[in-house]
Amino acid sequence: MTAEDFVRDLDERNQAILRRLAPDATLKPEVSGDLNVRNLLKVALKNEIEATEIAARWLVTTDDVDVKMAFARQAGDEAKHYRMIADRLRDLGFHASSFDPLAKGYGPLFSYLDTLRTTVERVAAGQFTREAIAVVKNRQFIEFCDRAGDTVTATLYRDVIEPDERFHHQLGRSLLLRCATTPAAQDLARRAAARTLALAEELQAAALQTAGIHHAPGC
Ligand SMILES: [Fe+2]
Ligand SMILES: [Fe+2]
Repeated sequence: MTAEDFVRDLDERNQAILRRLAPDATLKPEVSGDLNVRNLLKVALKNEIEATEIAARWLVTTDDVDVKMAFARQAGDEAKHYRMIADRLRDLGFHASSFDPLAKGYGPLFSYLDTLRTTVERVAAGQFTREAIAVVKNRQFIEFCDRAGDTVTATLYRDVIEPDERFHHQLGRSLLLRCATTPAAQDLARRAAARTLALAEELQAAALQTAGIHHAPGC
């Protein structure tokens, strides 16, 4: 199929699965224990630092200037998100300077993304799919913040972070249109996207089970 048809098909497949990540129940959360904006923002720090680093690793291992600059732009945005979230945490009484989000190591999604060697897999998984997941998760997180009465954090996500993540998804779309042009490339892209979604579902199930978290922000 053409690259245009392929990207449309992949988007539809992704959205069908993302609807499972966004069941109505997650929009009416049972808030209990330590499930608060502060603790969810600490999860966000880890997501942002991992997103920064994977984009940075990929930017130095491609020779294609457009791809390089797309990853550079993403790395910069994710680092900016990290700083903004750290600033917000400081206002909420938590000093991120004494906190290492990677103290327990990288997560399974980062480890998987780090194995990808081709541009078509990287943009399908790390940008087109992961950033589509981020948009859904951030929408849920914004609702959570609104419900918790934290309009400052909600506004940060609504006005800055969520539009940036949407842009990263669009970067992935435009690069996929350029490189998912053969059946072999499309097959690689489809597999990488499916694995990314499966990992996101597993991670969400694990977070729900261990910490009752079902709306940690994405990146
Ligand atoms: Fe992002
Ligand atoms: Fe981000």
